[in-house]
Amino acid sequence: MVQEKRLNLRRLRQSPLIRDLVRQHRVSVDQMIQPLFVVGGIREREAVPGLTGTFRETSESLLRTVESDLEAGVKKFILFGVPAEKNTHQFRADFTAGEIASLKKRFGKDIFLAADVCLCSYTTHGQCGVVNAEGDHVENGSTVHELAKLALAYAQAGADCVAPSDMMDGRVGAVREALDEARLDQTLLMSYSAKFHSKFYGPFRVAADAAPKGGTALKDRATYQIDPSFPQDAYMSSIRDVEEGADILMVKPGLPYLDVLAKLSSQIQKPWAVYEVSGEYAGIELLAQQGLMQGPAAHVEAWTAFVRAGASIIITYGARHAKKFLESVS
Ligand code: PBG
Repeated sequence: MVQEKRLNLRRLRQSPLIRDLVRQHRVSVDQMIQPLFVVGGIREREAVPGLTGTFRETSESLLRTVESDLEAGVKKFILFGVPAEKNTHQFRADFTAGEIASLKKRFGKDIFLAADVCLCSYTTHGQCGVVNAEGDHVENGSTVHELAKLALAYAQAGADCVAPSDMMDGRVGAVREALDEARLDQTLLMSYSAKFHSKFYGPFRVAADAAPKGGTALKDRATYQIDPSFPQDAYMSSIRDVEEGADILMVKPGLPYLDVLAKLSSQIQKPWAVYEVSGEYAGIELLAQQGLMQGPAAHVEAWTAFVRAGASIIITYGARHAKKFLESVS
């Protein structure tokens, strides 16, 4: 018996050119931000375990790396400054601000430079803020005060964007106010608005010297980062950050929180960034090294998922490899 009117879905899958034609989403290096780490007090740059092609840079190697990134088509960066000197209550912006100034002096408007704003690389104990005398609580007010001071210094040094990643309450408003008072009203503010308390930050904490190191009664960051089982918190935090003046919002990590990204990006009409964090990126790299996965194609698949879920901006350690990876799958 002949069946009529069968749905032939394979007709649209039959050749590379047809598949190319009907695709709804495309990933481009133009939407990617490459993280950079610059570390005080080291003489040679150091590779970061798990993140192929990512280094803890010296001031000199940082400039060379950005130069080669520009050649690879990457023009957008987020800088993590890791000063040699650590403190507990008051923090100096000069190391990171100096690196921002030297990048901007060299590359000017050829690059878009965001600066991550947090204290975890600045504190002796590795918590993201000022810890109280009892050692069991990250103080909100004094932390926000220090963060706003750092953000202002980074913006004055020439950062195009400041990106608070600490998860204190009120930091977006405080940073925006400090910028506006200094007439830096054109400096963008990208908030890590939906940052979850995640185990996927492992390699980053090596790169940025940012693991909680003890010396306090706090063993992790659960009292300020969002619980993975409480997505309403991510909504409340993101709405609040819009009200306080954030220009760009973010979900972090990426793949384990695609549901959050899809929902929030449809509910809140702002540019959405996603941070493909170190553990996600390294996971693909390690599988590929074991011969268990095709690395480049898997990276492109993950990036496609982010775009499908509503991200316009992707922060990824693979930005500098993206052109090559994208060509290899097209
Ligand atoms: C904290 C910060 C973290 C990342 C970016 N900013 C990690 C943390 O909270 O420990 C993670 C990025 C990554 O894992 O790639 N200031």
